[in-house]
Amino acid sequence: MSAARTAKLALEALAAQPITIVTPPPGPHAREMIARALPHLSPSLIHCYPLMVRRASGCMVEDVDGNVYLDAEAGVATASTGHCHPDVAAAIAAQAQILIHICGTDFHYPGYGEICAKLGALAQQIGPNTHHWQTFLTNSGTEAVEAAIKLARQHTGRPGIIAFRGGFHGRTLGSLSLTASKSKYRRGFGPLLPGVSHATYGDLDSVEELFATLTAPTDVAAIVVEPVLGEGGYIVPPPDFLPGLRALCNLHGILLCFDEVQTGMGRTGKMFAAEHTGVVPDILLVAKGIASGMPLGAMMAPSDIMTWPAGSHGSTIAGNPVAIAAGLATIRLLEDDLVASSARVGQRLKKMLATKLAGAAGVTDVRGLGLMIGVELDTHERAGALAQLCFRRGLLLLECGKKAIRFSPPLILTEAQAEIVSDVFAQACADVNAAAPA
Ligand SMILES: Cc1ncc(COP(=O)(O)O)c(C=O)c1O
Repeated sequence: MSAARTAKLALEALAAQPITIVTPPPGPHAREMIARALPHLSPSLIHCYPLMVRRASGCMVEDVDGNVYLDAEAGVATASTGHCHPDVAAAIAAQAQILIHICGTDFHYPGYGEICAKLGALAQQIGPNTHHWQTFLTNSGTEAVEAAIKLARQHTGRPGIIAFRGGFHGRTLGSLSLTASKSKYRRGFGPLLPGVSHATYGDLDSVEELFATLTAPTDVAAIVVEPVLGEGGYIVPPPDFLPGLRALCNLHGILLCFDEVQTGMGRTGKMFAAEHTGVVPDILLVAKGIASGMPLGAMMAPSDIMTWPAGSHGSTIAGNPVAIAAGLATIRLLEDDLVASSARVGQRLKKMLATKLAGAAGVTDVRGLGLMIGVELDTHERAGALAQLCFRRGLLLLECGKKAIRFSPPLILTEAQAEIVSDVFAQACADVNAAAPA
């Protein structure tokens, strides 16, 4: 048997493995490799726990010591179709044999037009609407936000942008000017983009207050908002919030931009979170999840808004043919039942968590849409202790907000795996409580 075939079979077997902790993580190989790597890495990287990944398949991740974890965070909500989905891996391999790069800003190749047309057709399903959507492809979420800021300013001729406290939009200087989830992201990097104001997430009155006191609406190019707050805490806004923003934008000629970098591509149980309210934005951003982990993002707008002329914006590598191939394969899987099935499993997981955590000390809320579920704790320390304990027990989770844990597993998570996720987490909650000094 060829080495490639052996590796493929081993990967398939990994996807079917249960959580297996053979040595308390981090094991000796992980410790040694991390110690060797760290001196060479930018100290700005976070590394929430010492996980050194060797390979991953489906919802399972194996470390270099042979420990096998159940991944309930999907590489920060990005490995949407699971790790190394065979269709996605095959599409990447096939594309890499024929064209890796030529530059979509300057030349044509078939995938670029194909994925832009596909995304436009998907955006038409929000609402629905009859806009002719056009797309600018990016490498990342932050680049999609940067493109949106530039388009909004040029199209409207206005400088102002309104974002929300608690929002996360990226770390490059433009998007960072909108990010307001934690001050550590901004510390020492100012002055940031002028003309940016922040309102209170979920609170329409706070936007009106900004208009009345700080930023005349006629100076505002765009309101940029996450339909569900991501890094800021997995918070679903009140039902009147997005429709209310739409009405304010209509009234004042402001563009409404939905940053669906985290909520898009099936994460909330619909292709776009906008579909939950039917509010159609003027600019729609996606990235995580669109290509199962390959670097791809998109900034979409109707053609009467995407009015910037040739040369206004571009990128050498964005919309790379290999990333697009992964994106097209991912979208096929999402449309072919994955969005719908993940909505069902998401509902079950939320219910299981709510049931198993009912009455647990320190748990104050279980919330979310689809497979974007947050559990709020009473303290930041408890959230941190839980993420660490779950890691040592073979469940990968991340924190978000000030004191919450986010569940954003691959969309292929099965109901049986959801049961395990909720069991391990509930037991960890009980054990963290038992270990806490009375
Ligand atoms: C809503 C949102 N916007 C933008 C970004 C930035 O994306 P990236 O890290 O790909 O630059 C993120 C990343 O977490 C995000 O959640």
